[in-house]
Order: sequence, then structure tokens, then C-alpha cells
Amino acid sequence: MGVYDHLDSKYNMMGASSFSKLAPKRPNTIVFGAGPSKVQKMNEEEVQQAANAPDKDKNPNGFHKCKKSLPVYRHRKTLVSIVKKHDSLIVIGETGSGKTTQIPQFLFEAGLASSGCIGITQPRRVAAVSIASRVAQEQAVELGKLVGYCVRFQDITSSQTKIKYMTDGMMVREAMTDEILSDYSVVILDEAHERSVHTDVLFGVARRAQKLRKMKNLPPLKLIIMSATMDVNKFVEYFQAQVVYLEGRQYEIKAYQTVSSYENYWLPALATLFKIHREAPPNEDILVFLTGQEEIESAVAYTRETGKHLSTIVDHPPLMVFPLYSALPTRQQLEAFKPSPPGSRKVVFSTNIAETSVTIGGIRHVIDTGVVKVRTHHPMTGLDMLKVEKISKEQAKQRMGRAGREAPGKCYRTYTQEEFDKLEDTTVPEIKRCNLAGVALQLLAIGIDITTFDFMDKPPKEGVDIAVKCLEKLGAVRGSQLTTLGRTMARFPLDPRFTKVILASVEHRCLEEALTVIALLSGESVFMDSTTKRAQASKARERFASPEGDHVMLLNIFRQYQSAKLKKVWCHENFLHYRNLQYGSEVRQQLAALAERANLESASCGTNTEQLRKALLEGLHENLAELQRDGTYVTMFTKQPVSIHPSSALHGTKPAMVLFTELVATSKYFLRGVSVIEPSWLTEKNTGGPGKHN
Ligand SMILES: Nc1ncnc2c1ncn2[C@@H]1O[C@H](COP(=O)(O)OP(=O)(O)O)[C@@H](O)[C@H]1O
Ligand SMILES: [Mg+2]
Repeated sequence: MGVYDHLDSKYNMMGASSFSKLAPKRPNTIVFGAGPSKVQKMNEEEVQQAANAPDKDKNPNGFHKCKKSLPVYRHRKTLVSIVKKHDSLIVIGETGSGKTTQIPQFLFEAGLASSGCIGITQPRRVAAVSIASRVAQEQAVELGKLVGYCVRFQDITSSQTKIKYMTDGMMVREAMTDEILSDYSVVILDEAHERSVHTDVLFGVARRAQKLRKMKNLPPLKLIIMSATMDVNKFVEYFQAQVVYLEGRQYEIKAYQTVSSYENYWLPALATLFKIHREAPPNEDILVFLTGQEEIESAVAYTRETGKHLSTIVDHPPLMVFPLYSALPTRQQLEAFKPSPPGSRKVVFSTNIAETSVTIGGIRHVIDTGVVKVRTHHPMTGLDMLKVEKISKEQAKQRMGRAGREAPGKCYRTYTQEEFDKLEDTTVPEIKRCNLAGVALQLLAIGIDITTFDFMDKPPKEGVDIAVKCLEKLGAVRGSQLTTLGRTMARFPLDPRFTKVILASVEHRCLEEALTVIALLSGESVFMDSTTKRAQASKARERFASPEGDHVMLLNIFRQYQSAKLKKVWCHENFLHYRNLQYGSEVRQQLAALAERANLESASCGTNTEQLRKALLEGLHENLAELQRDGTYVTMFTKQPVSIHPSSALHGTKPAMVLFTELVATSKYFLRGVSVIEPSWLTEKNTGGPGKHN
């Protein structure tokens, strides 16, 4: 669970120590073949070509030349005339052909934004932000004026904005207050192949808005669906749309697969990274796909260290290493997008947030580990889980696409051709595997019933039933109508269960504390793992510990963080992630503003944190586990055997009942984020059921 437009990890499969176990010696050599057996070495000529590629983007004139050279440029007239003629259009074009950055500009220049603005949705926040600033530069305007962006907690647009990049989640939010999307003349659903749950919802919502406008004789809503890779027939059928294929790729990208297969993915990834670093000219930057924050931070630390070590013994360009994952503050994410200074090399370790849409300056080499961490909802257990899974061929193609944006590039897959062939063709739509409570709530706020909504791919029926039941239990829905509470709930960009905690905290007189804990739970873990100073780290942690559990501990941390003067130093001393606390504090401010707008009465419970736990129980009553006679735990409603995770403050204690905010599947099921609950607190009201379940 957690916030919607957030698909990063809270924990990892490898553990933070995995990289540090690899002593900074020269990693093994990994052999790549272009096909099943042929071994290929890097082509010197190509490397040189890439290095000599003109630095075209230093001034607006440079932009102009660059724009003209993009494959979409020569199709612009045809494209505009087709858009004028037809209301729905599907645009397929290679990665890097200029779809995302150029098409909105063509439409704007052709006058298609005279009766409203052009909205372009992205499945990820980092894409919306970075692309908007690129397009603003190309138009030579200040970001937020003609060109702007709107992502969760950040609206950089004004009344002058005509080209608006936004996350798909934000567009769904807009539809909640304006079902015909009256601000827009054109809506572009970009990267449709990603099939994020919000994009899927938008498919239906935008189509409905188009029809409603037609019925009301309003100016038409133009709909454009874009991707490099997708099942076109399915989309044509659903949208009854014209298809346009844009020919041409800007730069060639070569893909290499390993000759033999590897059990873990980070070892060949690092070995490949250092091989490229040894052999490729400086300023050929490298992008490596990994799965989550902890893993990425360990890889960053290891690579920085090894890079430093290498530069003292052999002549290697200086290495600049950047992490990229969704929980990083936007400002820090954008750091990774700048090309490396002359004579050096940049390495970016990223989750799949850099997989589609974006252009990261300088990248010529992509290392694709073939894995991704996905959040999956299990209707059987009613719980969400993050799991590392294999990517699809579509995703592999998108990852490869990141290498050839500014010059020819190379993509190294750390898996074999055979393994590649076995990958699924397309990604399973998120709607088929996510918790639908939030979606159902948003649809109801638009006036749509999820059980009858015409999805492109229907979500599983049991998932829909569970979602509706969950909303009923939370008091958001009665008789398939949204209640007043449900309407307030829909305003918060959170999992409805988290929102319920905030709303319930008013009655328990602890809104301040609830905002803090929910904000911190929406980001990544604030705890920094240290392999070398484990004892010190756990001692530092004790200072915040509470017998009430991990949520009160989070509160203690945040309270002390707020009063600390030198926050960075304080975090360092206490083995806490400064960035994550900073992010949590930003999210908290936003949630507090929403709470104020919803007229929620502010109150603090001070040291009486039992009230906070009671508020948590009202939203998260499905996440309870009970102590058994034999000393083990099982989840209360689904009877799943579970254990308290060793990292929890409650590990080793045996409260009769606990509430948890995360379920981690490794060798067995572990609970993380655990609080003690008094069984006597369970009432019909806060469990939505007939008292204690026997
Ligand atoms: N931030 C950027 N920095 C440098 N070049 C960029 C940037 N954004 C886009 N480009 C250039 O424009 C090309 C087209 O980008 P884009 O419109 O995102 O393509 P598509 O959506 O078809 O994948 C890129 O391949 C790159 O050459
Ligand atoms: Mg694109």
C-alpha cells in the first residue's frame, strides 16, 4: 500500500550488504554476444562517432536544428491534418523519434490549443517534470508559463499554460471535478503500453469525456494515444481510432545479450559497468537499471568507492555516480539528468522510473538487468506485496531506447538471448494486479461505477468486490453511492485506508501525529542500514524506540528531526536518511494543506500516543495479526502465518495483537511497520465487522 503514483521499493531482495560484500576488486569479465552465440566486441568506429556527436543543445538555435532532425518533424503536417480531421488517433513511433517532446508543440503551433490546452500524461512524475522543462527550453519560455507541468503535490502551470505535462494520476484527479475535461482541447495519453492503472482508467474516462462533449455539442476533445511498442489492434478496437505509424529512428542502438546466464543480476551489471568504464571514451555515460532504493544506494556507494580506487591506479576518467528512484526529491532526481562535465563519466543507477519517456543527458550505454520491482495485490490475502519480477520484452525495448537519444548507443542485457526470448511480450496491466480500492473511489468521485465501467482490460472480479467491500467498511461508500466521508477521502492522493487514518484521527484528537506518520509511510524507509557500524546504528535507533511499536517510533524520529538544528548532521549521527525525512516532511506539508481545506480540526495527542494507534486501527483494520498459542502470528482475517520482521521495534516481543503496514515476502512472510493493538479496541465501528472475529 502507499501512494498511487509511487512504484518504488521499501525493501529489497538483496539486502543492503550485498554490494559491499563484493570487495572493490576488479569484477569478472562478462562476455556478450549479439545473438545466441556470436561474441561481439565494441565497434571502435561507433564509439568514436558517438563521442564526436555535436553538442547541439547549447542554445535555442541548436534546439531548432535538433528538432528538425527528429523523425517526426517530416510528418508534422500530415499529423496535424489527421488530428484536425479525426477525434481519436493512435500514434506509434520508435523511441527517440520525437513523439513526446515534439507532437504537442506541432499541435500548439497549428492552433489546436486555441480552445483549451494540450495535456500530455506520463506514467511517472520524473518524466513529466523533466520533459516539461526540456520543452519550455525549446520554446524559449519560462517553465510554468506557456509550458508547464502538474504532478502530485506540485502544480507548475498558470493561466497562460497551453502545453501541460502531467502524471496520469493528476489527470484522473482533474476528471474527478470536471468529467468532460473542459480545460483541454487535446489529451495525449503517452506511453500507453505501460498500462499503469491510472492510464487504464484514463482510457475510459477520456473516451467518456469525448462522448459527453459530443452529446452536449461542445467543442470536440481530441484524443491521442502514443507509444513505441504496443498491441495496436486492441487499442484500435477500444478507441475506434485511426493509427499513424511514424517511420524512422533517430539513432541506431545495438543490443547485446550475455553468452551465459547469471543467477544474480547485479554482479554482471557491475562487471559490465567497469568494463565500459575502462574501454569507452569519457563522456559516454552509463545508465543501469536496478530494482529499488536500498539496492541502488548500495550500488552507488560501491561504484563511487571503486571509481576512486581505479582512478588512482590506472588512467580512468573521474566517475560521477547518481541514484534515481521515485522517493528522491525532484531536485535530486534532476541532478542525474545533466550530462557529465567534459573528461568525466556519469553513471546513473535507476529503477524503472527512467525506463520510458525520459532523455537522460549523455547516456550512450544502458545496462539492463532484466528485472523490476512490482507491487502486486493478492486478493487471496487481501494484501499488497512488492516483488522482484522479470520485465517484458516491451520494457526491454524501452530500456534499450534510453541509449540512443542523442547519439548511437548500446544496450547490454545481463541475460542471455534465450532468457530474453522467454520474457512475456507485453507487461501485465497494473489494473489486473493492483489494489482497486483507490481506483474505485476515484471513479465514484467522477460518477462512474467500477463494476460496470468499460475497461480496456477488465480487472479481476474478486479484486473489484474486495475493493468495494473495503470502501464500504471504511464508510466511503453506501449502496454504491459515495458518502460525504468518501467525497472528502477522494480528495487525498493516498490509499483510501491511509486517508481513513487521517480522517479518523480528528475524533481521536491526533491529526498532527497522523499526518506525520502517514507522510513518512508514503515515502521510503527513513532508516539507514550500516553494515560496518551495525551496533552503533541499532544503538542510535534505541533512542527513538517505543514499546508501542514502529509507528510511534517514526513519530519520535520526526519530532526530534524537526527540532534538530543541523538536520543533515543529526540524521548522519542517528543513521537516518536525511533525504527521506526531508521528502516525508514535504509530503506532510501537502497533506496538512489538504486537511485544512477539508476543515479537519487540528489537534495533537502529545505523549498520549495510544490515540494515534487507535486512529491507525480505523484505517488499517484489515492489517491485523494475532498471537497464537504456540507463539507464532497469523493474520486475523486471512489466516496467513506471518512473523514480525527483525528490523521492527517489536521483534522479540509478543503482543497479543499487532497492526502492520507492510508485508514482505522472502523465505516466509514478514510484517514491517508494526504497532501494538489492544484487542479491546476492536469494535463494530472500527473494524466494520461484527466485533472480534472468531
Ligand atoms: N532533455 C533532453 N536533452 C537532450 N536531448 C533531448 C532531451 N529531450 C529530448 N531530446 C532529444 O529529442 C529526441 C526525442 O525525444 P522524445 O520526444 O522524448 O522522443 P520519443 O517520445 O519519441 O521517445 C531524443 O531522442 C533526444 O535526441
Ligand atoms: Mg516518449
